[in-house]
This record gives sequence, C-alpha cells and structure tokens, in this order.
Amino acid sequence: MASFFSSLMISLGLLVLVLGSGNATLSTNFYYSSCPKLLDTVKCTVESAISKETRMGASLLRLFFHDCFVNGCDGSILLDDTSKFAGEKNAKPNRNSARGFEVIDQIKSAVEAVCPGVVSCADVLAIAAKDSVEILGGPTWNVKLGRRDARTASLSAANNGIPPPTSNLNQLISRFSALGLSTKDLVALSWAHTIGQARCTTFRSRIYNETNIDTSFALNTRQPKCPKASGSGDNNLAPLDLKTPTSFDNHYFNNLVDKKGLLHSDQQLFNGGSTDSIVRGYTTEPASFYSDFVTAMIKMGDISPLTGSQGEVRKNCRSVN
Ligand code: HEM
Ligand SMILES: *[C@@H]1O[C@H](CO)[C@@H](O)[C@H](O)[C@H]1NC(C)=O
Repeated sequence: MASFFSSLMISLGLLVLVLGSGNATLSTNFYYSSCPKLLDTVKCTVESAISKETRMGASLLRLFFHDCFVNGCDGSILLDDTSKFAGEKNAKPNRNSARGFEVIDQIKSAVEAVCPGVVSCADVLAIAAKDSVEILGGPTWNVKLGRRDARTASLSAANNGIPPPTSNLNQLISRFSALGLSTKDLVALSWAHTIGQARCTTFRSRIYNETNIDTSFALNTRQPKCPKASGSGDNNLAPLDLKTPTSFDNHYFNNLVDKKGLLHSDQQLFNGGSTDSIVRGYTTEPASFYSDFVTAMIKMGDISPLTGSQGEVRKNCRSVN
C-alpha cells in the first residue's frame, strides 16, 4: 500500500513537472530583489514615448505579439540581421510595418543604468506592452517575468507563424490554437486592434472587393485615401478602429457588428461563424473583454519562454552578447 502511494505521488510529481516545464520559473516577482526599480523605470520611458507619439503604444503592443508568435516570447524580433542569420525584422508581417525598436533600445538603456546585465529584452518587451495597454486606457495586470533572450532569430518562422490579414476564421483559429491559445483568446486579443494604424496595402482588397463591409465606410471613408491600383498609396495609413484609435474601448467590437472592421481578418471574427456570439457578447459586456484580454495576454506571454540558464540576458537588444 505504501509503495503504491509513493509511486502514485512520484507519478503525479512527474506529471506536474512535465506540464509545468514550459514556464516553470516565470513569476511576477522575478526581479523583486535583483532590480526593484525595474517596473517604474520601464513605465517612465514608455510614458514619455507615448506622450511624444500616441501610436507608439500600439506599436509596442504589436511587437510583443510578433515576438511571442515566433518561437515564444524570447526577444527574437528585436535582433538585427547578421551574417549568421536573417532576423525577423524583414519578415513579411514586419517589414515596413513593425516599429518601436528605438523605444525598446531607450527602455533597455534606462534599465541597464539601474540594473546592469540583469533584465532580459524579452521581459522589457512584455512590460512595455503591459504599460502601453494601461496608459492608453485599457486594463492592467501583474506581468509574469523571468524570460531569457534567444541567441538567434528566424525569418522563416516569422513568415510562417504570424497570421496574415488575408486569413480566414479557421486559419486564425488554428494559428492561435497551435500556440495553446483558444478561440476566445483569439477574439479577446484581437481587441488590440482598438488602437493603432494599418497600411493601405493590408486592407485594399477588403475595401474594394469584399461584400461583408459597410458600403459608406468602404466607399466614402477608406477608398479616398487608399487608391485601388496596387503600388499607389500602399503605405497610406488608416486607423484600425475608425472612431477612437488611441484608446482601449469597445468600439472595436461594435465596428465588427457594423461591418466596419478594417482588415479582412478582423471582419472574419463577425461573419456568420462560430465567433459571432463572442463578439456580440463583448459589445454588451465591456467588463468581460477586459478580463478575457488580460487572461489571454498572460497566456500569450507564457508561450515557450527560455528560462533558467537557457539563452542569455542580452546587453543590447539588437544583437546577441
Ligand atoms: C488575429 C490575427 C491578427 C492579424 C491578422 C493582425 C494583422 C495586423 C495588420 C495587418 C496590422 C497592420 C500592419 C501594417 O499595416 O503595417 C496590424 C496592426 C496592429 N496589430 Fe494586429 N493582427 C492580429 C492580431 C493582433 C494581436 C493578437 C495583437 C496584440 C495583442 C495585435 C496588435 C496590433 C496593433 C496594436 C496594431 C497597430 C500597430 C501600429 O499602429 O503600429 N494584432 N495587425
Ligand atoms: C479584386 O478582385 C479581382 C478579381 O479577383 C482582382 O483582379 C483585383 O485585383 C481585386 N482588386 C483589389 C483592389 O484588390
């Protein structure tokens, strides 16, 4: 009997180890004694960057998403190209699009000044994303920390891992599910498109060719600044949330119900499919998407981090030590 129980306990212990190994050491107090000023230092720099340019909050949040979806949240997106590898900055979803790298450099320098060699770039990015959401009027949460930085980056993993705006609902669901994120997480995280801007090239075919779009929105609001001919005005910007592109509010979900989602992928979340009911629920219950967004951001931040002695703590976020 005793040996039965002890082997049961050992099996349970092993199970816990196996299930928990992905993020065993991420914790909200990881730098509590090694860098007590960390959170204040990051927030100060993010605040000043956003006060110079409101859009920067959106850009920092997106960088974190594009980091986590490519081999986990390991700061790989921050690495410049080298002779040994092609980095992620020139992958299709990032080229001429991902921005905020200079702000990450500024935050990292400020952090290095108070705690040299202690805090990873992956964690700096996670904190900057959380601060951006909070500063722009969204919810806040205790961000889990203890990630380490990758020593390499992958252009092809970025091209294959980050969903394109041409995705249909099933493709979005499967990209997210491959990383352990549910359909509800997909819808909740898409709320990020309540802030920020998109280039004409990412929504041209939607505003000229799609039928599940409000006619006046397509014709009068978006087409005048996004010419039909590919190549002209490709980089002209439009807000992802047409009403309030600098604040976290529920206009994003209302837009979808009104067929005014800007990206093809946005409107897929409300197009007669399985996510319609989630979107509709969010239009009436802001409190629920606040908490679902936080849950999903924490889950996204848990995607296969390097921990313990894996990877390194980069000195400069753009290059390996
Ligand atoms: C569901 C799949 C998603 C697709 C297909 C997608 C696609 C896009 C595209 C095409 C843009 C415009 C880029 C440009 O024109 O340069 C964009 C912008 C943005 N995305 Fe997403 N996105 C997705 C999910 C997310 C998630 C999960 C987040 C964060 C949690 C996010 C945050 C943002 C932000 C904040 C911007 C604006 C960035 C800025 O103004 O600099 N997106 N997204
Ligand atoms: C609209 O669809 C047609 C037919 O597929 C295509 O040839 C055309 O380039 C599309 N127009 C835009 C603006 O995407």
